[in-house]
Amino acid sequence: MMQQEFEKLKLEALAAVKSAADINSLDELENKFLGRKNGKLTNLLKGLKDLPEKEKREVGPVANETKKAIEDLLAKKRNGLRAVQWGESLQNERVDVTQPALPPREQGHLHPITLIQNELEDLFISMGFMVLDGPELESDYYNFTAVNIPEDHPARDMQDTFYIKNHPDWVMRTHTSSMQVRAMQKFGAPLRCIIPGKCFRNEATDVRHEHTLSQIEVVVVDKDINFSHLKGMLELVAKHLYGKDTQLRLRPKFYPFVEPGVNGEVSCFICKGAGCRLCKQSGWLEIFGAGMIHPNVLKEGNIDPAKYQGLAIGFGLMRLVMLKYNIEDIRLFESGDMRFLEQF
Ligand code: DAH
Repeated sequence: MMQQEFEKLKLEALAAVKSAADINSLDELENKFLGRKNGKLTNLLKGLKDLPEKEKREVGPVANETKKAIEDLLAKKRNGLRAVQWGESLQNERVDVTQPALPPREQGHLHPITLIQNELEDLFISMGFMVLDGPELESDYYNFTAVNIPEDHPARDMQDTFYIKNHPDWVMRTHTSSMQVRAMQKFGAPLRCIIPGKCFRNEATDVRHEHTLSQIEVVVVDKDINFSHLKGMLELVAKHLYGKDTQLRLRPKFYPFVEPGVNGEVSCFICKGAGCRLCKQSGWLEIFGAGMIHPNVLKEGNIDPAKYQGLAIGFGLMRLVMLKYNIEDIRLFESGDMRFLEQF
């Protein structure tokens, strides 16, 4: 009677264990049959002690054999399921060493203007200059009035720019000279700084004219600054850009914010001054505007012109880059044309 019950339970348990799909259901089955509290086999075994001695001896071995069979199959099945699980995770972690390499991710690079700007920043930083940033949308005051270009002065016409609707006092700055007075007001004298940045002009664009320009402004204010400092500085930048044999030529030119003002030219690096197509047979390339800072400008910057003097230099970066890389159309810089940009 009891023997049969053990046999039945064994068949039921073994079948269930065999078809268990994962370790969780195996745990549940273990509890269901062997669990201490209410396990089916446990309960059955509890009944053994009430049997008469003779029957106990007959059923005992069957009971033991049933328990062992169930335990053995559970252990075997558990190992099997574990192996499958590990296999699956190994499969997921597998590296296919035969797979061909992916193409390298495309890397960006710096714009040619940024390259030359960085190079010049390094040169000036090495001489103890600060590098300042300034607003591109600027007040009419800092762009014109503060640098000695009063309203109605004809010099304003040379630098027509973009005005902002409903804000008659704002302009897109026409030159980085707009930072001269801002820098003086903020830092006072002595002062050594450069201001690289974008400027804007209302231009009819063509291969040589663009509405958006990149310039660098150089400002030095100190005691006893004179024209020879200006010349030395210009020579240094010219030689840095075009090589140490480069000659410098200065010719008087009017700029409202300097007195005297000069136009700085360097000997043509192609023909070395002999005359060629690049320099239009003149032997010289026009690069810089420069001069000794006008006393009115120093005064606007709260600097006493009786105590301090200053020099200022301004030059466009686009011309430099065009000469360096033989670029024929200035409009390419701002065009976003990848065929152009990818060459640098
Ligand atoms: N701001 C002038 C321009 O954009 C360039 C310039 C000329 C800057 C003479 C200077 C200077 O600092 O002294 O055309």
